[in-house]
Amino acid sequence: MESKVLKIIQDRFSVRDYEERPVEQEKLDLILEAARLAPSASNSQPWHFYVVRDKQKIKELSGEMPLGTHLVINSFIAEAPVVIVATAGPIDLLHRSASAIINKKWYFVDLGIALEHMVLTAWELGVGSCWVGWFDEKRIKKLLDIPRGEEVIALLTLGYPKDGLIPRPKNRKKIEEIVKFI
Ligand SMILES: Cc1cc2nc3c(=O)[nH]c(=O)nc-3n(C[C@H](O)[C@H](O)[C@H](O)COP(=O)(O)O)c2cc1C
Repeated sequence: MESKVLKIIQDRFSVRDYEERPVEQEKLDLILEAARLAPSASNSQPWHFYVVRDKQKIKELSGEMPLGTHLVINSFIAEAPVVIVATAGPIDLLHRSASAIINKKWYFVDLGIALEHMVLTAWELGVGSCWVGWFDEKRIKKLLDIPRGEEVIALLTLGYPKDGLIPRPKNRKKIEEIVKFI
């Protein structure tokens, strides 16, 4: 049996080295459509996506990180032609209360699904990406004028990889370590 989606999942890897060439609007539209169609808790769709293409803003996005770690971590952001800043919120009272009752922040899950939809669609279109979870939320919100009620969940860099999209071996746990059939 074969699965096209699984093939993309098997081949994909994080791309941190990008060509300067921009990502076509048509491809960006498809990538964002994949996020729009993602499932979410109670179909709450708690997301906003800030698509940053302005070179200066991208440079500023990649600036100082928490604890002054920008020199070693995530400096690659500065060279990405596109950075998507994904936010959640404002979360309404119903979802806030439901999350509090079962002690799970579903909007984190919702954003994770939407972002990974983008990652996989991008790969299929020949566009590389990298999740970025290490960022300075306060500075990014100020830089992009993001409303107070929104929380930055993650960044996603996008662009054409300098070295192509040639699959490489994956460092993952074995299936027996993580799955239990009951
Ligand atoms: C939630 C999340 C946050 C991540 N944050 C960063 C990050 O800040 N910087 C980075 O270079 N990679 C980041 N990554 C990428 C992971 O390091 C990468 O997915 C993992 O090492 C597996 O490698 P692969 O994506 O090439 O298969 C992040 C991935 C996820 C899912």
